[in-house]
Amino acid sequence: MSRPRITPLQFIVHLAGGVPAAQMLFALLADRLTANPIQRLEQLTGLTALTFLLLSLACTPAAALSGWQELTRRRKALGNYGFLYAALHVSIFIALDYGLNLNALLRDVGSKRYILLGAAAFLLLIPLASTSFNYWMKRLGKNWKRLHRLVYLISPLVVLHFFLAVKGNPLNLSGNISQPILYAAITSLLLLLRLPPLKKALIQLRTRWLPPVKPA
Ligand code: HEM
Repeated sequence: MSRPRITPLQFIVHLAGGVPAAQMLFALLADRLTANPIQRLEQLTGLTALTFLLLSLACTPAAALSGWQELTRRRKALGNYGFLYAALHVSIFIALDYGLNLNALLRDVGSKRYILLGAAAFLLLIPLASTSFNYWMKRLGKNWKRLHRLVYLISPLVVLHFFLAVKGNPLNLSGNISQPILYAAITSLLLLLRLPPLKKALIQLRTRWLPPVKPA
């Protein structure tokens, strides 16, 4: 029997990639994006971008724990969705929030730390997204993996951006910081699981406690 061209997991990843955009579009058309729709769109696209980045970071430890190797093959698509939502987030900020006023924008990038952190994260994401094609994977060889380790720097930068962007400032506890704290905890866990002893422990956990995985 011939193999299906698209696996169920691939289907789920692409469905998940499209659903937030569709939800935002419907909410916009139905006028359900709060009294400040631009700010709400910035929040939703930012949160979605970070969620996809973390999902792509979760693939390797999840594959080590479960033995389901297909998870590692979906990392790239999840990372690309993260980049797409980040690009939408930044475009909304530049075009709708600042009305393409580049002078005001440059002034605020220099003076507001959260914008500076977001911009740094976005600039670092560009080389990752543009080299995500198979052509670049082959051409860059080992350097491709090295380059893509930038995500270990990008994710904490985005979490810091998140903390500082939350209205009320993280040092002022009146701001709603429970969400950034949750995202910071997940990011830290996913980065810690990259450390060789913890990675080894995950694999041992699987071989000791879970049934052996049949090869695909
Ligand atoms: C030039 C780059 C960036 C700019 C100018 C920018 C701008 C903003 C602004 C203005 C907000 C605050 C919205 C509010 O008023 O509540 C925000 C929040 C946020 N941004 Fe960015 N951002 C940038 C890059 C990024 C990137 C690359 C990511 C993720 C990959 C990201 C993720 C987030 C998240 C998670 C939030 C918090 C959303 C929430 O409050 O629920 N941002 N950003």
